[in-house]
Amino acid sequence: MLDQLQRLPDDPILGLVAQAAADHNPQKVDLTIGIYMDENGLCPVFDAVQRAQQQLVAAESTKAYLPAVGDAAFNQGIQQLLFGEDSALLADGRVSSIQTPGGCGAVRIGAEILQAAKPGNRVWISDPTWPVHIPLVGSVGLQFSKYRYYDPATHGVNFEAMVEDLKGVARGEIVLLHGCCHNPSGADLTLAQWSVIADMAESQGFIPFIDIAYQGMGDGLEEDAAGLRLLAQRLPEMVIAASCSKNLGLYRERTGAAVFLCQHADNAQALVSQAKVAARKVYSMPPAHGALLAGKVLSTPELTALWHEELAGVRARINGLRGALSETLGAATNRDFSFIQREKGMFSFLGLSPEQCQRLRAEHSVYLLDSSRINVAGVNGANIDNLATAVAQVCKEG
Ligand code: LMR
Repeated sequence: MLDQLQRLPDDPILGLVAQAAADHNPQKVDLTIGIYMDENGLCPVFDAVQRAQQQLVAAESTKAYLPAVGDAAFNQGIQQLLFGEDSALLADGRVSSIQTPGGCGAVRIGAEILQAAKPGNRVWISDPTWPVHIPLVGSVGLQFSKYRYYDPATHGVNFEAMVEDLKGVARGEIVLLHGCCHNPSGADLTLAQWSVIADMAESQGFIPFIDIAYQGMGDGLEEDAAGLRLLAQRLPEMVIAASCSKNLGLYRERTGAAVFLCQHADNAQALVSQAKVAARKVYSMPPAHGALLAGKVLSTPELTALWHEELAGVRARINGLRGALSETLGAATNRDFSFIQREKGMFSFLGLSPEQCQRLRAEHSVYLLDSSRINVAGVNGANIDNLATAVAQVCKEG
């Protein structure tokens, strides 16, 4: 029976990661997956996390399961990170959360809750969006429509088209928004644009589902949550998927949270009970290590301060690379790459065709997605010239 199953194509991101790993060209440039790399091409462990880990390991006395809802310090820390320490919404008990295996787990549990509330409901996703949204959200039975978002001609958000499309969202439907550092484009909404979305959600009665996997990687932890907070001030309900993969560098520890903003405190608790049942069906209990580390960093003032400092360094490096990339690519190709400087977080499109991207991989060992999305943080002083030369070459060949 099992021999009837066909081999499936590789995941569009993870398949390229494997291809890049198998390429031994010393000139290789790997800009595939969204992992922060330092100047030496390594994905570092934050010192704050390292210190939390030493304390945790020294004091650890059990490997018993965590409660189904996860670690309490972690849940509190994540809620405060999203809404602000002094948030009235938290004080009123309108927010609840469940620890999940990474941001993916958070998207999936968020989708389970939305499906439980209204089976087969419609979720509006940005065009383009992170491709994994489709299986994570679609596999619970929700339907999709797309709204226009990124305009390759201007390398920015086509807000007029976005608004036009969102006018078609019916009462009770879901709009999936990227909280900051849009993946794959790096093109974010301004605060004024978030305010228009809030107006529309209020008048049309749609529910935002915010994936905020990159909080702190754009302009700052507070700044990156500004759009989400603006919606939260004005709307009765929201579902949020948060992740500590990028901002705390806990990728392999699978550390995230599904967070619910509800109209009333008892409803917030009801959603946690629903989320626990949804989790029990899929993976039962969340993994402990990453959340215990994040919880410690978020609840220990010295570690929090150290982490803030380190995260500021990460942002400074990414923003510096954005400047260097726009100059170096511009000079090598005689094209305008200044848009890279305007974008936020780890990703930008280079504006190349899938064929050009395939040639970059096959002929130059420069690995980027077919959409021409690059992980800006994979660029460094040792590979930027190879990258620019290769991009110039494929642009010349058309
Ligand atoms: C990415 O978009 O590269 C990251 O979010 C990692 C992943 O799981 O795809």
